[in-house]
Amino acid sequence: CGIVGYVGGRPALGIVMDGLRRLEYRGYDSAGVAVVAADEVLTEKRAGKLAILEKALAEGDIAGIAQGTTGIGHTRWATHGGPTDRNAHPHLARDGRVAVIHNGIIENFAKLRAELEADGVEFTSETDTECVAHLLAREMIGDGAQALAEGMRRVCRLLQGAFTLLAVSADAPGAVVGARRNSPLVVGRGEGENFLASDVSAFIEHTREAVELGQDQVVLITADGIEITDFDGEPATGRDFHIDWDASAAEKGGYDYFMLKEIAEQPDAIADTLLGRLKENGDIVLDEVRLSDQDLRDVDKVFIVACGTAYHAGMVAKYAIEHWTRIPCEVELASEFRYRDPVLDRSTLVVAISQSGETMDTLMALRHAKEQKARVLAICNTNGSTIPRESDAVLYTHAGPEIAVASTKAFLTQLIACYLVGLHLAQVRGIKYADEVAAVVEQLQRMPGKVREVLETMEPVRELARSLADAKSVLFIGRHVGYPVALEGALKLKELAYMHAEGFAAGELKHGPIALIDQGCPVVCVVPSPAGRGVLHDKIVSNIQEVRARGARTIVIAEEGDTAVEPYADHLVRVPRTPTLLAPLVTTVPLQVLACEIAATRGHDVDQPRNLAKSVTVE
Ligand code: G6P
Repeated sequence: CGIVGYVGGRPALGIVMDGLRRLEYRGYDSAGVAVVAADEVLTEKRAGKLAILEKALAEGDIAGIAQGTTGIGHTRWATHGGPTDRNAHPHLARDGRVAVIHNGIIENFAKLRAELEADGVEFTSETDTECVAHLLAREMIGDGAQALAEGMRRVCRLLQGAFTLLAVSADAPGAVVGARRNSPLVVGRGEGENFLASDVSAFIEHTREAVELGQDQVVLITADGIEITDFDGEPATGRDFHIDWDASAAEKGGYDYFMLKEIAEQPDAIADTLLGRLKENGDIVLDEVRLSDQDLRDVDKVFIVACGTAYHAGMVAKYAIEHWTRIPCEVELASEFRYRDPVLDRSTLVVAISQSGETMDTLMALRHAKEQKARVLAICNTNGSTIPRESDAVLYTHAGPEIAVASTKAFLTQLIACYLVGLHLAQVRGIKYADEVAAVVEQLQRMPGKVREVLETMEPVRELARSLADAKSVLFIGRHVGYPVALEGALKLKELAYMHAEGFAAGELKHGPIALIDQGCPVVCVVPSPAGRGVLHDKIVSNIQEVRARGARTIVIAEEGDTAVEPYADHLVRVPRTPTLLAPLVTTVPLQVLACEIAATRGHDVDQPRNLAKSVTVE
């Protein structure tokens, strides 16, 4: 979910709504605002996207709500209770004098709700958040900003789970109180005004000075003050930082969708991620390393944990890391990792990959790893987010803000970061592949240019995509690092086009999935370079023939000059010659374009697919 709060001298509504627009990628199945005006709290909330709330506000009597200078707003990704008007935030209590918005899950809400109901409180929604509103109404004793803050602290002591909470009250005009445990919350420091939000993009237009709240802290903002305490009321401090993003980076820049813009930005994103990481002598530098070289030399096992697209980056990394370092490396979905009791100790390196740095599944996997004394290295795109903060070492991807829900440029930069980590480990440990490492470093520098070449030849892929828009299902096959690319291609199509799509290891087809193939079934085949691992190439050429013999329409992604595939390709997409391990940087791009164009042809919202959220801060 995305949350915003404002207090200052200007009307709050417009500022809160602008902030919500920037946060909408965090969840968009309902939205709402609450503004303190005169002696009351005015609210409006609606199921559906922000545009529906905007319409309701425009049609309603907004005179009051448009004037108040204290307000909060929320865009929701539903957890407890479906996406309805009633379940949308804010939730109210004390006859509408207290309003609360929330991101996260209150795990003990059923018990709290039962207690409140036993005391005669009537609930109007199915959400866990409404409990907090009623508790705050009960615990806020007296009037004024301090009473609101103290009420919030008392409530937080009763809550279990993960939450960011914001509240306003008609009995405390000119104040917004916030609290955080596990979920993100940052303060924007203005002049005569202050902001609260899930991330800085919500207030970047108004201020570049921010304070990140720590775990279990409560913050009270007024027009001229920011007061931070822990849940017991002891004074506390956040981490001050300056935001150096360009605000225009968060705008569409002339493209129809953020996703198209982000696909086009990939060459720069890769170049930026490599920048400053490769020293002239060939050494590789990480950003924040709270581990010694000796710690890295002691590593005897690597686990990569991640979700969604980041997990596919991890799958590619496994091939590279094992090959270059000869350390066993496993990749695991973060949501499965800690629950199966993995074997970890001081000499295990856990690599957590996350664009947002806030994905709860990944964060919990990381915490579990730390409890078991493992070392944790984060690969992350969001400076100051929770995952890098809790890690022993960090390598930031410099993809810039990624707004489209389906990840593109963040994925390619995650791949770059994974290669760098693999090469760094190899260097620190003094491996026998020194020549190979030097050659890879050199090849990495050429990748922005190669991705640019791919982007320049995408028109036929878009045309092909339009012809696939009515397909029942699309299969993707690959071998070696082409296998995670196949999975990523299928995931993109599911996310964006809502089509049945599946990725398979090409060798596994004959063990079952080949039964899915019937006349005209599109099969996208990711073909490795014939140079380097020739056997692999020949094997997949056989797999392409097998599916074609059963009626498949083959879409073959192959290197320039690879003539062996020509007789079996109904459609051929060429990518520049690239060493096998780095090939996902080029082979993924046509699959992103394919999914984006199919989705657009089918009339879907490319940037905000149904049911998804960019940053999933619940488990
Ligand atoms: C969500 C997004 C995916 C993303 C995954 C991991 O499910 O919809 O696109 O790959 O989270 O996100 P992270 O921020 O941890 O990379």
